[in-house]
Amino acid sequence: MSNPSHEAIIAASILSADFGYLADACCRAVRGGAAWIHVDVMDGHFVPNLTMGPVVVEACRRATDAVLDVHLMVEEPERWLEPFAHAGADRLTPHLEATRHIHRVLQRIRALGKGVGIAINPGTDHRLLDPILSLVDHILVMTVNPGFAGQAFLPEVLPKVRALRTHLDELGYTHIPLAVDGGISPETLPHAYRAGARIFVAASAIFHHPQGIEAGIAALRHAIPNKP
Ligand code: DX5
Ligand code: ZN
Repeated sequence: MSNPSHEAIIAASILSADFGYLADACCRAVRGGAAWIHVDVMDGHFVPNLTMGPVVVEACRRATDAVLDVHLMVEEPERWLEPFAHAGADRLTPHLEATRHIHRVLQRIRALGKGVGIAINPGTDHRLLDPILSLVDHILVMTVNPGFAGQAFLPEVLPKVRALRTHLDELGYTHIPLAVDGGISPETLPHAYRAGARIFVAASAIFHHPQGIEAGIAALRHAIPNKP
């Protein structure tokens, strides 16, 4: 079973925040109970959308001391590690599919003194992670095809989350938590939790909640199943 010391974490993805009030959005998310701020970086090549660069991470850094996790949906992430590290990221999470040299990329993130994440798309076999498991601090399993907020959760990814959790535990990597990203809501979160996820990335469910950011986070936290 997954490491009982993994407390559930809500990571607020600012992709759906009001960018006119970004600092305020970050502060409200953290006050509301988000332990991480998740920054979705897209390059228009690896995914069909273009979003934010290091200056946005700098702005988030000025707004909060919370963990800033930068999800790099960019080709050749090796080109962007230093700029995002220097902008104030705490963790860098590139995609396995985005570079020929993922091992080197993860080594470089570690050398920069940052937390090491690795993300995989819905269509990627989790066993491709085996050669790099010793290098990572968390694994982000995409539960939508990356590129946009507001997409529907893909339930067919759940068996992969479950299999990966079991696999990690069997190999002794109980300390590596699994994150899920895409379509996370109070309805889908419990399914991902029961499959072994402990870090829940959400944009729409938080920043488009009709009662506000804090209410969106409270609804997600309320949906976390009680431990047996
Ligand atoms: C998708 C991004 C996600 C996205 C989640 O490509 O990686 O972090 O912002 O958005 P929701 O929670 O709306 O599915
Ligand atoms: Zn993301």
